[in-house]
Amino acid sequence: MFRTLLQFIVFIGFFSSAYAQELSPTATGQEAVYATAGRYGMVVAQHHIGAEVGAEILARGGNAVDAAVATGFALAVVLPRSGNIGGGGFMLVYLAGEQKTIAIDYRETAPAAASGNMFLDRQGNVDQQLSTKSRASAGVPGTVAGLYYAHRKYGLLPWADLLAPAIRLAEEGFPVSDYLAQLLRSRKDRLGVTRAGLEIFYKPGGGFYAPGEMLRQQDLAKTLKRIAENGPDGFYRGPVADLIVAEMARGHGLISHADLENYTVTEAPAVTGSYRGFEVVSMPPPSSGGVHIIQMLNVLENFDLRQTGPGSAATIQVMAETMKYAYADRSQHMGDPAFHEVPLAWLTDKEYARQIAGKIKRGGVVPSSQIKPGTPPAPESPETNHYSIVDKYGNAVSTSTTLNLTFGSGIVVAGAGFLLNNEMDDFSAKPGVPNAYGLTGGAANAIEPGKRPLSSMSPAIVLKDGKPVFITGSPGGGRILTAVLQSIVNFIDFENSVGPAVQSPRIHHQWLPDVLFLEPGFSPETIIKLRQAGYTVKVGQVFTAVEAIEIAPGGWIYGYADPRRADGGAVGLCVEDMAVAC
Ligand code: GLY
Repeated sequence: MFRTLLQFIVFIGFFSSAYAQELSPTATGQEAVYATAGRYGMVVAQHHIGAEVGAEILARGGNAVDAAVATGFALAVVLPRSGNIGGGGFMLVYLAGEQKTIAIDYRETAPAAASGNMFLDRQGNVDQQLSTKSRASAGVPGTVAGLYYAHRKYGLLPWADLLAPAIRLAEEGFPVSDYLAQLLRSRKDRLGVTRAGLEIFYKPGGGFYAPGEMLRQQDLAKTLKRIAENGPDGFYRGPVADLIVAEMARGHGLISHADLENYTVTEAPAVTGSYRGFEVVSMPPPSSGGVHIIQMLNVLENFDLRQTGPGSAATIQVMAETMKYAYADRSQHMGDPAFHEVPLAWLTDKEYARQIAGKIKRGGVVPSSQIKPGTPPAPESPETNHYSIVDKYGNAVSTSTTLNLTFGSGIVVAGAGFLLNNEMDDFSAKPGVPNAYGLTGGAANAIEPGKRPLSSMSPAIVLKDGKPVFITGSPGGGRILTAVLQSIVNFIDFENSVGPAVQSPRIHHQWLPDVLFLEPGFSPETIIKLRQAGYTVKVGQVFTAVEAIEIAPGGWIYGYADPRRADGGAVGLCVEDMAVAC
């Protein structure tokens, strides 16, 4: 108790001294810094320029929501694979003043002209070209409306100030990283489908940008200026809306002026759970992430993971079996709550978790074919990015945004300079047929006009005694849930600080296919044991990238950008004359 009180006094002392002194970001203008510490704020994002922009906003007195808005728009410029204004996202905000967490949903929405069988060919098979690479694959974008909503309700600085860095980056350009150069080279087939895409991402004549060369995006700059001047009307009405609708008319597109004008943002309380004395808050549906992370934590609470230890076959087995039950439930019960009654209380119920835990035997592997989605007792009344932010006021933001697959549909809105999402593929185009992430679904997630596709994005915040201690989230499609889950388990069960909590190799099982995916880094003995236990084990590719922040007792804030993906960055806030380097 005395220790806590002392820490609190030190903490308050540091905070009040920060108001009197200039705050300065730890790493602006340099190359990506993946791990850093700060005292008065932290931004961790999948592109270091995005993190630097957010930290500058914090340094100028903005709060975490202001920083999230500025970072979001900056990422739309410097991280074209998933940063966006043509997609959507989720924002979780912990409001220190009210000690509560709210969830802002700006997920893309099916256009009014969408229909349940729109991606089926004459034989009734899913046409993946249409569901992932056509104008029809684009849902009505939500990002601009969502960021505006967050700012209007919770931000402090003027809206236009938050767009200014993104406009500058689009107009004056930013240096292409090795990673982006290589990505643009390898994805020319996707980005080159429209003339606008070719003109923006390739040199005249189709040549490639070399690392270090400046990428300028003048049409995007014009669009961002319209948004800066007119708010959402600069995007959902007027010239930009006209350009989106004109793009649709080039083939298969469904988004109309009415769809754009009718787009709405929703705010709801975060979904909450508890795990070994910590509170875990995350995104409610149409995210499947929050609910199933809490469900999985509830199941894992029945096992002593500290005793079996991180990375051991015994721990992996318990986690993989837990994941299978959660993803089986996901396939049946999850969808847009405006269209489908999600049995939220039952899925996050400790008793239901105990029933699942009872079916998990140490060393036992139940084939996915024998696992079916659970039945609630009675109806109750590729490519994403993530950034985490903490400010000096004690607020925290955990935001995931997406275009769906890398570079979304690959279609650039001519004249407006931004990529359109292909989020319609997150719907279940046909019951039981896997989408691009291999995830299956049913009626709850069928395509309907005005409905939001089920998402795996799982921004999450872990709290202790009502205060955030760990802010986490990741890109990675269907693998997001298990990546975020493991960052939390590493932090709580294995008492890892943010670095190892993010860095430790991860596993993934999503029920179907019945395959246990392991990242490289597990010991050969562990892999042999898992195969002997009956798992089909695949070791290989990494899909996720957790961007996390830890707030340690005593006030230090540690940021860690997952080095699994290049270009990420963590930028902390310190006072200029601090003796301690941070
Ligand atoms: N498009 C990825 C997700 O929302 O899950």
